[in-house]
Amino acid sequence: MNAKTGWPLALLLVTPFDPSLFSHNSCLSNAFYGNYQQGVTTLSVLRPEPACLDTWTAQTLAPSVSIAEATREIQQLVWLEEQAVDESLTSQTRSFRHEFDAFLDTLSTRPWHSDGPLDQVVLSDAHGRDGYEVLYRTSKAALLSVSHNTARIIDTLVPRFWKSTLLPTSPVPFQPVKSSALGHAEDVLAKLKFDPVIASIVGNISISQMRNDIRFLTGEDGKSGIVSRHSFAPGALTAASWLKTRFEETGATCKLKPFLPGFAPNVVCRYAGVVNTTSTVLFSAHYDSRGSFGSTRAPGANDDGSGTVALLSIARTIRRKGIKFYSNVELVAFAGEEQGLLGSKAYARELRDANANLTLMVQADMLAYRDPGEPRQLGLPDLIGSPIVTQLVANVSAIYSPELHVGFTPACCSDHQSFHEQGFPATQVFERAGPIKDPMYHNSGDLSNRVGYDFMQLKAIAKVQFATLLHTAGYELPSEH
Ligand SMILES: *[C@@H]1O[C@H](CO)[C@@H](O)[C@H](O)[C@H]1NC(C)=O
Ligand SMILES: *[C@@H]1O[C@H](CO)[C@@H](O)[C@H](O)[C@H]1NC(C)=O
Ligand SMILES: *[C@@H]1O[C@H](CO)[C@@H](O)[C@H](O)[C@H]1NC(C)=O
Ligand SMILES: *[C@@H]1O[C@H](CO)[C@@H](O)[C@H](O)[C@H]1NC(C)=O
Ligand SMILES: [Zn+2]
Repeated sequence: MNAKTGWPLALLLVTPFDPSLFSHNSCLSNAFYGNYQQGVTTLSVLRPEPACLDTWTAQTLAPSVSIAEATREIQQLVWLEEQAVDESLTSQTRSFRHEFDAFLDTLSTRPWHSDGPLDQVVLSDAHGRDGYEVLYRTSKAALLSVSHNTARIIDTLVPRFWKSTLLPTSPVPFQPVKSSALGHAEDVLAKLKFDPVIASIVGNISISQMRNDIRFLTGEDGKSGIVSRHSFAPGALTAASWLKTRFEETGATCKLKPFLPGFAPNVVCRYAGVVNTTSTVLFSAHYDSRGSFGSTRAPGANDDGSGTVALLSIARTIRRKGIKFYSNVELVAFAGEEQGLLGSKAYARELRDANANLTLMVQADMLAYRDPGEPRQLGLPDLIGSPIVTQLVANVSAIYSPELHVGFTPACCSDHQSFHEQGFPATQVFERAGPIKDPMYHNSGDLSNRVGYDFMQLKAIAKVQFATLLHTAGYELPSEH
């Protein structure tokens, strides 16, 4: 409560996602701060005016709704959620309560050292100007109010298997995926059949080139000087300009697009269609990375160097084969993913504001790790994304990479979520039909030269991305002379 007025400074509603929240009550639809995961449950965060809440009767609120009262001024809201990781990994870690308490301790005491702009950041305790407030907390998720300074670095403080997402600073309109937006994906799926030319094109993806590319991005080759691709690290800028040059060599037009001060930019590359059309397909990955707590090394060979080199392998093959498209094609490497999908949120909003005709979006995040005891796999999202787009990718996989065992994964919430939230048809490809099992997940040991880093699986999934792109965009090859 605010001592002067007796009112809390803000009210926050955390409630299971229900589209009728937006259709029946306009004061709530103007209070939407996005959907977030708590295990398999999707929750909406709303920040209504107290008067808006008054118009709600006890019956209209779901029994599972939580109402939090912020007693301090809110600078930045942060959602925290436990990632879906395999038991073989979580059994090594402490209990949630212990882990979360230790995390809150790091927020309040903060004996933290780092390079660059971060070392000016000083946090005080929970009662100081820079403190935090816990607004909602269960065993799988939490909503915090933190200072701007803490928000910038919170991804480096959260427990390893937790993910932090910064909420928007003002309400966002709820944008469902309209059925008309799915029309093109539906058409492509209905007509999908084996194309021997596509099979030969996607088979041309080069593993040795992917191996060289990943070793540059991780710094394993000793040539790039990259230590970390964390969004604030100098290595992320090295990676961004290197990626821009490599994609441009393949005939794309690329832009480095900054989205927030201090963050490395998004790398947005485009092949214009050979016909005059608004239709655009977008394939993406995130090139930023996260390392172990307290370490400056963040090589991110799997998360998400693997998705990034898959995109690059597609671009290099587009060049080798001289492919032209009937749609516009964008290949995008995002930054700010580890801080809460920030780069992709900015770009998805930009495309929504421009009324872009995005007919398909596929994010690749973690493609290369395979437990040596398991077959090669392709994991697809069961919660976030458009089911028809996910089905299209699954059916393409069965045709062009039949060796992959395809199934759903609960590992969620990569950059495709940003596009799904803006009403675009989107899905994700992942390395496992189950939770995360990579022992080097969010670890400074995430290198490409290790047991389980499987270039054959990486190529098999890149083939699925590329074949989906070719079927969806339409293509032509240079005529033979
Ligand atoms: C996708 O593949 C499944 C399994 O082979 C098949 O049953 C289904 O008909 C396919 N969907 C379409 C639209 O072709
Ligand atoms: C890809 O195709 C080129 C010719 O266009 C060929 O020289 C090269 O060996 C092929 N690579 C693979 C991995 O198939
Ligand atoms: C492409 O089509 C649009 C809309 O039909 C038209 O305004 C524009 O001039 C065309 N551009 C070119 C290069 O033909
Ligand atoms: C978007 O592109 C599709 C082709 O992929 C086309 O059928 C549709 O008319 C386009 N929509 C608009 C609004 O231009
Ligand atoms: Zn990732």
